[in-house]
Amino acid sequence: MTIPSDTGPTRDEVQAHRGASAIAPENTIAAFRAAAEQGARWVELDVALLADDTLVVIHDDSVDRTTSGMGSLGALSHADIAKLDAGAWFDTKYAGERLPTLAEVIKALGEFGLSANVEIKQHKHHKSLDQLVRAVQADINKRGPNTQIMISSFDPEALKAMHALEPDLEMAMLWGRPPEDWAEKLKAIPATTIHMHYKALSIGMLEETSKSGIKVRAWTCNNPIELVSFWGAGLTGVITDNPKLFLG
Ligand code: G3P
Ligand code: CA
Repeated sequence: MTIPSDTGPTRDEVQAHRGASAIAPENTIAAFRAAAEQGARWVELDVALLADDTLVVIHDDSVDRTTSGMGSLGALSHADIAKLDAGAWFDTKYAGERLPTLAEVIKALGEFGLSANVEIKQHKHHKSLDQLVRAVQADINKRGPNTQIMISSFDPEALKAMHALEPDLEMAMLWGRPPEDWAEKLKAIPATTIHMHYKALSIGMLEETSKSGIKVRAWTCNNPIELVSFWGAGLTGVITDNPKLFLG
């Protein structure tokens, strides 16, 4: 069922934040599978480099919170993270889940029929932005024909560098609350999309973004009632831990 777009999002307007992270361990294959099982078409995920330049799907700059191990990503190799359990911290039924590489996730997205919003995290241990975006480019270009990719980041330089490599991809600037000069800042990247905190949404701003042809998605909202008044006013998407709530 598709919810009419004046009262709620269409299926393509819902992105599962770190996968269906309300019901499965975030940024794992299990979370992406759960999102697909809930009927999502899109997932959001976070990427960062390890010490050996492997690109992995993880939110934090260390493995402490979401795995059985400890340590900064900048001090760990692929061989190190392959030994870690990334599921038991969330629920013992997910014991054995791994911290995945982006390449592994891209393959799984094809199997699950999912598209992805790849958020490029900029961490202190990253040596070079060029190396980071080239690693992202290499992995996303292994995607299957039914997987769409878009890029988001809190770092405009990461979006600029990615756009230079992949000009056809949608670029979304992440802000908690967009600055007054959001239009100029988007143009400088260039980016077509704002991802902003849902508590900072306003009808006035959505009228402006709509007029300018700019898409706006709201993160991270787990209560559909909070967004009801914004769908008819120019909101074009939601990023949620629990896509089922928005998918009817
Ligand atoms: O995409 C929006 C959201 O993921 C940004 O915040 O900290 O969950 O990556 P965070
Ligand atoms: Ca994110």
